Amino acid sequence: MDNAIVEEIKRLKKQRNAIILAHNYQREEIQDIADFVGDSLELSRQAAQVQCDVIVFCGVHFMAETAAILNPDKTVLLPEIEAGCPMADTVNVKELKEWIRKYPSSPVVSYVNTTAEVKALSYACCTSANAPQIVKAVPFDSIIFVPDKNLADWVKKQVPYKEIIAWNGFCPTHQMIKKEDVIQAKKAHQDALVVVHPECRPEVIELADHVASTSGMVRFAKASQAKEFIIGTEVGLLYRLKKENPDKKFYPLKSTMICPNMKLTTLESVLAALKENRYVIKVPEDIRIKAYEAVQRMFTLMS
Ligand code: 13P
Ligand code: SF4
Repeated sequence: MDNAIVEEIKRLKKQRNAIILAHNYQREEIQDIADFVGDSLELSRQAAQVQCDVIVFCGVHFMAETAAILNPDKTVLLPEIEAGCPMADTVNVKELKEWIRKYPSSPVVSYVNTTAEVKALSYACCTSANAPQIVKAVPFDSIIFVPDKNLADWVKKQVPYKEIIAWNGFCPTHQMIKKEDVIQAKKAHQDALVVVHPECRPEVIELADHVASTSGMVRFAKASQAKEFIIGTEVGLLYRLKKENPDKKFYPLKSTMICPNMKLTTLESVLAALKENRYVIKVPEDIRIKAYEAVQRMFTLMS
């Protein structure tokens, strides 16, 4: 059954000149059919440079929206329209505008996990792979950082000389990890290194051996001499880690670290996306132009 679906996806992909981008948290079978699997930064880079007519984005809404911001002339499809991000949803545009009025000399740096409207109000975007680098590089001593308070705290520790006015958002999947979970996991796997995502609580990050974005974790595991790793992020990443490092062992920090939104996309929904051209993600042009500037500035500040 799955084979027939995969073959049909491949046929339609060719017919429509489409490419499939998938986030590291996607289901195994989605990662297997994707043309590219990566973290938010790599996916936005791919989205900025791909040559195709259609991008099928297997991830969550803000990711497909970022692809649409970068590619106004391509069709961007999100196979599951309900695949959102609760952290991105914490930013209320009206309230953010009040903050901007209240702190006129503190431009907004927004995590890419935001809506296009929020990006349009931002000076620059960042991802978990480059947040400290971007905050260092922006030419301001004070910034508003939205929406992740944990990522803001992690950045603050690396850029202590800048003022960071942080939003109060968080990712439920990473926030569920407590200090005690790390202590327990370390007891169970005494030779393993603890690698966590910067969306984790500060007290969890403090106990980690390494902090990185999802693809940063893949690079770290490959380069490390260690043979065992406790992984503090969404469990979908373990598939790629194991596949690319068959001689190493990976344990989830907690097996319940699942992002339900990331798991909505199935082979069936990817097939339906290509067949029925759904769900088309489009950003109104006035918002897109402003949001594009913020995303583009992230690329410029990185170089
Ligand atoms: P990265 O893949 O950029 O590390 O992001 C993790 C995440 O939670 C995306 O929603
Ligand atoms: Fe959003 Fe967290 Fe899911 Fe990433 S893992 S999409 S931040 S809810």
